Amino acid sequence: MAAPAAQRNHVALPTHAAQRVEVSPPAGPQKETGLVPTGSQLIYFSSSSENTSRFVAKLGREVARIPLYAKDAPLLATRPYVLVVPTYGGTGGEGSVPKQVIRFLNNPQNRQLLRGVIGAGNTNFGDNYCMAGDIIAAKCQVPHLYRFELMGTPEDVTRVNQGLDTFWTRLSQTQK
Ligand SMILES: Cc1cc2nc3c(=O)[nH]c(=O)nc-3n(C[C@H](O)[C@H](O)[C@H](O)COP(=O)(O)O)c2cc1C
Repeated sequence: MAAPAAQRNHVALPTHAAQRVEVSPPAGPQKETGLVPTGSQLIYFSSSSENTSRFVAKLGREVARIPLYAKDAPLLATRPYVLVVPTYGGTGGEGSVPKQVIRFLNNPQNRQLLRGVIGAGNTNFGDNYCMAGDIIAAKCQVPHLYRFELMGTPEDVTRVNQGLDTFWTRLSQTQK
C-alpha cells in the first residue's frame, strides 16, 4: 500500500525561506583533464525521459546536469552541492543508482563536495520508491533531504526551493 504523501516525501528540509545562494556560471571543459568544472550548488541526473530535468527547471536555480552519455565530458563539482537523482532499477539495491551518477560520484572531489541528496521516483515502485537517494545518502553519509514523484508538483517546487535556501544558509553558518 502506498504511504501517505507527507510520509512519502520525508521532508527533512526546513520550511521557511532564507537567503538564496549565488553560484558562479560553469566554465567550459578543462583541456588538461577533459572535465567540465561547475560551481552549481544543484547537480542533477535525468535520463532521456527528462522528468527530473523538468522538475529542476521549475526551481529557477543555477543547475548542472550529469551527462547522459559516456562520450560526453564528465562534470567536476567545485563547490558544495546537493544532488538530484532519479531511481532506476525497480528491484532495489545498488542497481537503483544510474550508472552515470555512480561514475560522477566515483570522482573523489565530487563525492567530497556532496552535501545532500534529493530523490526522484515513482510510488508505483513501492518500497523501492526513491531508493537511489537512500543508497547515496547512506554511502556518502549525507541527508536524503526530500523525495518527489516524476516531475514534481507545484508544492514540491516551493518546498524544495525554500528548503534549499534554509539548508545552505544553515550550512554556511556551521561550515567554513
Ligand atoms: C526501468 C525503470 C525503472 C524504475 N525504477 C524505479 C524504482 O526502483 N524506484 C522508483 O522510485 N522509481 C523508479 N522508476 C521511475 C523513475 O525514477 C521516474 O520515472 C523518474 O521520474 C525518471 O526520471 P528522469 O525522467 O529524469 O530520468 C523507474 C523507471 C523506469 C523507466
